[in-house]
This record gives sequence, C-alpha cells and structure tokens, in this order.
Amino acid sequence: MKILIVYGTRYGTAAEIAEEIRKVIEKEGIEVDLVDSRGIKNYDISLYDMVIIGSGIKIGKWTKGSLKFLEDNKSALSDKKVALFVTCGAANMEETITEGQEKYLDEVALKYLSGKPVATGLFGSVYDPNANHGLMYKLATKFIIKKGLDKQGIDTSKRIDYRDWDEIRGWALNLANMLK
Ligand SMILES: Cc1cc2nc3c(=O)[nH]c(=O)nc-3n(C[C@H](O)[C@H](O)[C@H](O)COP(=O)(O)O)c2cc1C
Repeated sequence: MKILIVYGTRYGTAAEIAEEIRKVIEKEGIEVDLVDSRGIKNYDISLYDMVIIGSGIKIGKWTKGSLKFLEDNKSALSDKKVALFVTCGAANMEETITEGQEKYLDEVALKYLSGKPVATGLFGSVYDPNANHGLMYKLATKFIIKKGLDKQGIDTSKRIDYRDWDEIRGWALNLANMLK
C-alpha cells in the first residue's frame, strides 16, 4: 500500500501538517511519498492507493501548484481514493468554519474531482506577529488577523498555533485505516 501526499504552502504551515500526516501514516506501516506541489509536472500517480492533496489559503485561494496538480490529474484521480485538506484562518473560529469548509474544500472537490473525497480536513493556521514572510503576510497579520484577535481579547504579542495536532493525527490515522 502506498500513499502520495501533495501539498502547497506559502508560509510553511501546510508543509508541517503534511509532514505530520506522513509520520502518522508511515507508523501504520504504509509507504508514503511527500511532495511539494510547487513546480511538479507529469507526476505518475498510477502506483498510489490514495492521494492526499492539501494547501494553505491566501485571499480565498489554494496555491497554484496544488490546483494545477488537481487539474493535471483530474482523470487519473477519478479511480483513486482522494483526501483534501487546507490550513486557513477560517478554521480558527467557530463562526467561519462552515464557510471555510464550503469555500476551500467542498467547492474545490466539486470542481476538480469526479467523485467525493474520502475525507476533507479543515485545519487551523498560525498567527505569528514576528514572522518574516514578506509584506503581504505582515499587512494581513497586522491589519486583519490581529484586529480579529484583539476583538476577542486574545494576547497578540505572541505566536499562536491554531492547529489541533490531535485532530490532524486522528484525520491521518483514519486515512491509513481505510487502506487496511
Ligand atoms: C496574505 C494572507 C492572506 C490570507 N487569506 C486568507 C483567506 O482568504 N482565508 C482564510 O481563511 N485564511 C487566510 N489566510 C490565513 C492562511 O490561510 C493561513 O495562515 C494558512 O495557515 C497559510 O498556510 P501556508 O503557510 O501553508 O501557506 C491568509 C493569510 C495571509 C498571510
């Protein structure tokens, strides 16, 4: 049994999630290939029993690489077990979870997959006021994300990791169990 994980990331968050998913699945005795979607071309997915595709979200969008992978492999994915995950700010708050699930997972599944994914994962993001990820990140952190956190009375001077690692590990374990 073999699983392919393809992820797209801008600030590293999805990459860390993909790595954790890999660890959990490998522990279950299943072989995993983990691939950054940036620049991948003509990837042969025929040997895999399951393909997990993930992305971070920026201004409502998956990364170009992960979307291109979905587009390029539309027909090859049609007879595979496919799971999708995203990491996004929408997952951090109860009020935006449904919107995140619909916009970033359900709509993408409808557009790119011929069948239903075997699982979708909507995972939280990282707030880091001191990270040096460029101007866009700084502006979004300072003027959008920080404002929302301030409103909730959350201390924004420190890094906050909204990823629920137990949830992520459980999600990955469930996928591994589907191949047993
Ligand atoms: C410039 C910018 C735009 C973002 N836009 C959105 C968005 O539209 N919706 C959302 O839920 N989260 C948004 N986020 C939060 C990211 O999705 C979140 O930080 C995610 O974990 C990033 O994943 P990555 O590090 O793998 O790229 C944005 C973050 C930044 C810095």
